[in-house]
Amino acid sequence: MQDIVRRLDTCRVCGGDDWLEVTSFGSVPLANGFLDPADVPAHEPAYPVDVIVCRGCRLMAIRHVIRPDVLFRHYVYVTSESDQMIGHMRRIVGWCDRRAGLAPGDLVVELGSNVGLQLALFQERGQRVVGVDPAENLAEIANARGVRTLPEFFGGDQGRRVAAELGQAKLVLGRQCFAHIDDVHNVLDGATAVLAPDGVLAIEVPYLVDLLQENQFDTIYHEHLSYYSVHTLGRLFESHGLRLVDVERAAVHGGSVVVFAARAEAGREPAPAVAQLHSLERQLGLLDDEVYLDFGARAHDVIAQVRDLVRGLAADGKVVAGYGAPSKGTTLLQFCGLGPAELRFCSDTTSLKHGKLLPGTRIPVRSPEQARAEEPDYYLLLAWNYAAEILSKEEDFLRRGGRFIIPIPQPRVVAARPAAAVA
Ligand code: TYD
Ligand code: ZN
Repeated sequence: MQDIVRRLDTCRVCGGDDWLEVTSFGSVPLANGFLDPADVPAHEPAYPVDVIVCRGCRLMAIRHVIRPDVLFRHYVYVTSESDQMIGHMRRIVGWCDRRAGLAPGDLVVELGSNVGLQLALFQERGQRVVGVDPAENLAEIANARGVRTLPEFFGGDQGRRVAAELGQAKLVLGRQCFAHIDDVHNVLDGATAVLAPDGVLAIEVPYLVDLLQENQFDTIYHEHLSYYSVHTLGRLFESHGLRLVDVERAAVHGGSVVVFAARAEAGREPAPAVAQLHSLERQLGLLDDEVYLDFGARAHDVIAQVRDLVRGLAADGKVVAGYGAPSKGTTLLQFCGLGPAELRFCSDTTSLKHGKLLPGTRIPVRSPEQARAEEPDYYLLLAWNYAAEILSKEEDFLRRGGRFIIPIPQPRVVAARPAAAVA
């Protein structure tokens, strides 16, 4: 059997091997490895989360790479149908249309298309669509809703096959999946094989600038192999004959960037926004070492603060629960060393997670209905990327005297009003 974990020795973008060792968050089980209470293993395998930065191209990465089929063949992460996410997906359609000029009948290919919600929006406008997603359980759902989806990892072969069967794509889109990919060169081979001469490749990733500025250490876990800046993406695309022609920042997943690339030979002039983000990154020091080391130190500081705050509340007899059971929540609780002694449960809207236990910490996941019957004094907001939506949805909880703890960038407690700062 092939090993489950491999060590990243040469950079997946530039091939370099001069690494800055940023920090380590210790060893934890896989963030989406929810456990069935009837079938809890005696020993959960755990893998290190060590953060490194390539001094050649400034790729930030984790050192230990889990074999992709272990992580992605059966996937519990389903694209959120929250208001925020639906709004974003609609905006994506407009942004892509503006750059690629999508006519009815044009082909749109999406990598990591999940259950097909994004592609369905293109299909509604008359585009032909095909999704490629390795999660067999999700591809089945997408196909059932009429969004054609191949249950495969995208790569050179898939790109060539789609081109041969369906023709060239005006748009190749990858939303929130590119950072999960180890062999990025194979994926870009596939993308360039299927991309029309005047086509656009649009890639959405969590933005490294937001991660560093907002202390989003809990987004660092095994599914996320890479943490991209525009600098590094631009360099990667260039090595495949692609040029960044535009960028957009978006609030989703705590702050993301969508980069639009075209074939260099198409001769498109980059929009001014590209140079603006390049200079922002330079100004913030992303091309030097210090900014990463500072982030590592701050992350450990926030981890200690969250741990002390929650332990203190539990010691005072307060009931604390988690709001949401996202991967980043599993990660945050692991890094903070918080378990069922401090958090009674996590409530989450995803039915696939109900009745399960969080990996590592083994905190039970409840449905929002169950949670309401057992309301805690404090909710630790693990799904902080939906803070605005959740706080407004939970106004009644706040009005009844409930409180939220928002863990990052610095832990703070939110009450009905006024909001009190802790820490
Ligand atoms: P998300 O941040 O998308 O995922 P991840 O960190 O795994 O990449 O996940 C948000 C989680 O929060 C998801 O499991 C659904 C849950 N959630 C709620 O329980 N209630 C809500 O109101 C919202 C918006 C999300
Ligand atoms: Zn590199």
